[in-house]
Amino acid sequence: MKLSGKTAVITGAAGGIGQATARLFAQEGASVVIADFSEAGQEVANRLKEDGYQAIYEKVDVKVEEDIQKLIERTVQTYGKLDILFANAAVTNDDPADELSLEKWRRTLDVNLTGVFLADKYALIQMLKQGTGGVIVNGASIHGHAAKAGVTAYGSAKAGVVMLTQTLGIQYANKGIRVNAVCPGYIETPLMKVLPSEEVQKLIDLQPIGRLGRPEEIAKAVLFLASDDASFITGTSLMVDGGYTAR
Ligand SMILES: NC(=O)c1ccc[n+]([C@@H]2O[C@H](COP(=O)([O-])OP(=O)(O)OC[C@H]3O[C@@H](n4cnc5c(N)ncnc54)[C@H](O)[C@@H]3O)[C@@H](O)[C@H]2O)c1
Repeated sequence: MKLSGKTAVITGAAGGIGQATARLFAQEGASVVIADFSEAGQEVANRLKEDGYQAIYEKVDVKVEEDIQKLIERTVQTYGKLDILFANAAVTNDDPADELSLEKWRRTLDVNLTGVFLADKYALIQMLKQGTGGVIVNGASIHGHAAKAGVTAYGSAKAGVVMLTQTLGIQYANKGIRVNAVCPGYIETPLMKVLPSEEVQKLIDLQPIGRLGRPEEIAKAVLFLASDDASFITGTSLMVDGGYTAR
């Protein structure tokens, strides 16, 4: 098992990619903290426990500093330490700039960029205190690298996550803390199931592999970055996008 004895916090773990990652981490031996604004996170934790894994749910709003502080405190109270953070929670927004309200711009940036910063900050404080290193994986996107009309606030936030990752990667490398980002392409999540099939086909056509990705395929990439298999990798973004950004 690749994460035996490790403790991992996963934000947005009630959703598609976060949930798949929580299960894979648990299968690989980690105790997992399901951190999400949605109380569906409690069900995710319950199912993991029923299957014999170590899991707790913590309700957090990632853009609220006190929530993140409490999340890390509860993690340490419960499992004694923090080894891995997957800062994955995000919201989507497709509004073109001329239609995007300041309120929606701020909300998207608050959750998708400030939320990642806050989780990273308090994870780093705890990891530095422990003095035994650690791993952070930030949830970015192909749209942190490649523009698409409409992803004004979302893409700006994700590009911020990419640079935040690079900055932290070089800053904490000598403390044994690795910081990387995962950049998913279009993934088969509940949202895709409610889109008209011609809309989904348009997204598929942008991915040379010719299909949507599966949450489990992102989870495997996050596991790689979180495990010792990626021991010489920091400050980078891993594209898991069926070839989208290679075109
Ligand atoms: N699904 C895709 O096609 C795709 C593509 C590229 C990048 N991503 C990124 O992958 C990550 C996960 O996406 P997903 O598809 O699993 O989305 P999802 O909507 O299924 O899950 C996101 C989770 O984040 C939670 N969340 C939202 N705001 C929050 C807040 N303020 N505080 C705490 N939790 C909050 C939601 O409750 C939800 O459970 C996101 O960072 C997303 O931007 C997804």
